[in-house]
Amino acid sequence: MSDSDGGTQPVRALAAIADPDAFLAAMSDLAAPQTRYAAMIEGGGFLQPTEGMALSFDRAMTEHVLRHHELFSSRVDLNLGNVRPLIPLNVDPPNHSKYRKLLDPLFAPRRMDEREKDITERVNGFIDGFIDNGECNFSEEFAELFPSSVFLGMMGLPEEDLRMFLGMRDGILHAEKIDPNALVDFGARAAVLERTGQEIYDYFGGLVDDRRQSPTDDVISMFLAAEVDGERLTREDILDICFLFLIAGLDTVSDSLTCMYAFLATHPDHRQQIARDPSLIPNAVEELMRWESPVAFGVPRVATEDTTMPNGEMVTKGTAVVVSYGAANIDQKQCPDSFDVRFDRDVNRHIAFGAGVHRCLGSHLARRELRITLAEWHRRIPDYWIKPGHEELEYPPGLRHVKDLTLAWK
Ligand code: HEM
Repeated sequence: MSDSDGGTQPVRALAAIADPDAFLAAMSDLAAPQTRYAAMIEGGGFLQPTEGMALSFDRAMTEHVLRHHELFSSRVDLNLGNVRPLIPLNVDPPNHSKYRKLLDPLFAPRRMDEREKDITERVNGFIDGFIDNGECNFSEEFAELFPSSVFLGMMGLPEEDLRMFLGMRDGILHAEKIDPNALVDFGARAAVLERTGQEIYDYFGGLVDDRRQSPTDDVISMFLAAEVDGERLTREDILDICFLFLIAGLDTVSDSLTCMYAFLATHPDHRQQIARDPSLIPNAVEELMRWESPVAFGVPRVATEDTTMPNGEMVTKGTAVVVSYGAANIDQKQCPDSFDVRFDRDVNRHIAFGAGVHRCLGSHLARRELRITLAEWHRRIPDYWIKPGHEELEYPPGLRHVKDLTLAWK
């Protein structure tokens, strides 16, 4: 199988994204963005702050964009050190559907059942490392390590590769950790991304070649064996999928964990509810994903033709449209009591994992990791708080996450 529609298109307005005031204002308050989202929705919910760029906050408009892939293409160049489109994120239907048909079963709930024991052991292994200290830097000692460790397990890779793996992830998502100049110098950032991108291709390339020779029961071996309508994934396909996994599947779970634990550590009533009644945990995960929406904004979509939005506004061909999942999840037209964080919500139609054809492939894995963490943690550490002196929480730019969230317990 190969993605034969050609390359991705550059997003005309991406360079301008750092500029428009409205975008910066909406992005800057990552600590508690919900009130700002509500103001954006009240102000119309759809902005075109500069030619070639649009922002959607309103739930109906966001769903319109996400569910009309023929009008809003995902074939955009994200400049993440990749030299080909990321699969399946940068692929439009019909090719996209072929990839998802092949990948979905590998990440289905039944497959995740098989990983339950492994994930539970990994959670407890990390907790063992700090429980007797009565405190931990939750971001560094748990949230950043655990999802990568699970991923290593799924890839059949040894735990010793964890640091190298985190290095590759940082080289793409946190280039400033590798070279501090990358924060201000576009060239320095591009150099780190390019170098890391090549490392990722080399690393997974070696793995694919190895598994082709000696298949195991890991994910790469499954990719090599999987077949849809008589077609198999090519070597490049597998590299482009693994590249995306590295950037889509590790940080997102880490970020979600820090947002959730910052909430729980500062809301004792909510924390006690799940410590007392673990059966609430699946609902709590959904509600915290809705409220926190760690992936606050989506990957840009590009209008394939001049088109009219549900509010009557015209969007011209080539416009990059960025949707806010965070805003869509607190839109009171869809969820009237959206500012109440309730673990007993019967219906919770949040789109923290996206919507439409590109809806998160790894949502069952992510949910499983989050649920097991909450269950095991609250079984062993039911009562905890932010360590005194660390109450000021820092939410750096990027996906919503808390840096150095420091928790304490008795
Ligand atoms: C709590 C954690 C996670 C969150 C909040 C999250 C969120 C999202 C969102 C919002 C999208 C849609 C992107 C778009 O339409 O532009 C997405 C897509 C995707 N996610 Fe996740 N994700 C999470 C975990 C994971 C994990 C663990 C994996 C690993 C397999 C993963 C793999 C993917 C892939 C491959 C896509 C692209 C799907 C496609 O284009 O068809 N995600 N995710």
